[in-house]
Amino acid sequence: MNNHENIGLSTSLTLKNGMKIKNRLFKSAMSEQLGDNFHNPTPGLFRLYETWAKGGIGLSVTGNVMVDRTALGEPKNVVLDEKSHLSLFEQWAEAGKKNDTQLWIQLNHPGKQTPKFLTREPVAPSAIPLGSGLEKTFNTPRELTESEIQCIIEKFATSAGLARRAGFSGVQIHGAHGYLVSQFLSPHHNQRTDRWGGSLENRMRFVLEVYRAIRKTVSDDFPVGIKLNSADFMKSGFSQEESIEVVKMLQKEGIDLIEISGGTYESPSMTGYKIKESTLKREAYFLEYAEQVKKEIDLPFVVTGGFRSGSAMLAALKSGATDMIGLARPLAVEPEFPNRLMENNAYASDLKDPTTGFPSVDRMSMISILWYEFQLEKMAKGEYPDPDLNAWSVVFKTFGRVGLHAFLKRRA
Ligand SMILES: Cc1cc2nc3c(=O)[nH]c(=O)nc-3n(C[C@H](O)[C@H](O)[C@H](O)COP(=O)(O)O)c2cc1C
Repeated sequence: MNNHENIGLSTSLTLKNGMKIKNRLFKSAMSEQLGDNFHNPTPGLFRLYETWAKGGIGLSVTGNVMVDRTALGEPKNVVLDEKSHLSLFEQWAEAGKKNDTQLWIQLNHPGKQTPKFLTREPVAPSAIPLGSGLEKTFNTPRELTESEIQCIIEKFATSAGLARRAGFSGVQIHGAHGYLVSQFLSPHHNQRTDRWGGSLENRMRFVLEVYRAIRKTVSDDFPVGIKLNSADFMKSGFSQEESIEVVKMLQKEGIDLIEISGGTYESPSMTGYKIKESTLKREAYFLEYAEQVKKEIDLPFVVTGGFRSGSAMLAALKSGATDMIGLARPLAVEPEFPNRLMENNAYASDLKDPTTGFPSVDRMSMISILWYEFQLEKMAKGEYPDPDLNAWSVVFKTFGRVGLHAFLKRRA
């Protein structure tokens, strides 16, 4: 019997800097798009995060907050920089930390994953356009200069320092899903010939420098985590073997927690796309990877993507492959899912993927993201989410609001 067998959903977890997380359930980032016109947090966000805190989640991570106001992933992203109104972030932190919840901010730079209508000239490690038909929606990026790279690293550190000042209990670097950090790691998207590209050692320099700059700013007692891809799931992308090497380096550097996901806009496996049937049966898409890495490293892990039932969550914790269970979509329709799981470990979400019944409309409207954004908006207004919300009504409402922009490739 290994010592993981005694771990349950309500077992607390203490990170190496002493932060105690009251249970093993982790709210994974979901971009809320609820910033105001100046990209500050709004009362709707305070309400939303208080709702999740009351629902019993142990560690809650915000949707991605941008470190650079000239590089947004979506129009209503929150930005955290020197121009931000810190008092609004303080209110957000206070609301989301109720009920003894830890609240971390996810910090992101989209790199080339910023749509044309937002950014005329995106930046990236190399001037390589997105593929898979996305080149219609996203402009070809310009290659970053050395001084621009240094400037972005500093921006991550500035945002992290401000997050600490505002009262958040930690930060998470968004190193997954094809955004800038993940673009640097990818041999396909990063074809630089300087010290930032080429070998894996060079490609991981950016994430390591971002981590070091953040650590220097926030000190050792403030948790810093990362969301990292197990792989990009695309030909010539960041591979599983490379991902394991990056995890080892981050462990050496002193990272506090690693959340595992996978995929990019071009190949969105983070929400189950092209995941093998046998894997889907175990619910968690990236558990096999975690099992493999955990044999070699000793670092708190969160596996995110696909978990729906208490039994699959318990099995994953007891196997030792993960220390926490990452949850996103189930919490968008059932914010008290954690409390229900604590009361009854056999509880399961009966969430069904939203569909219009027409795969091409689903794809074009990105219904699998849009539908959840509507649920977040409802909660932000103080309403209860609607699990039976009709997919067509979401499509029509969005079209009415923003026209064709609604149907540009969004996120995950
Ligand atoms: C509406 C929506 C927004 C998302 N935004 C983010 C984000 O800002 N940052 C991030 O790392 N992942 C984001 N994701 C991905 C989720 O964090 C998670 O990795 C994915 O949904 C799989 O977990 P699940 O099966 O529990 O939903 C988003 C997912 C959805 C549905």
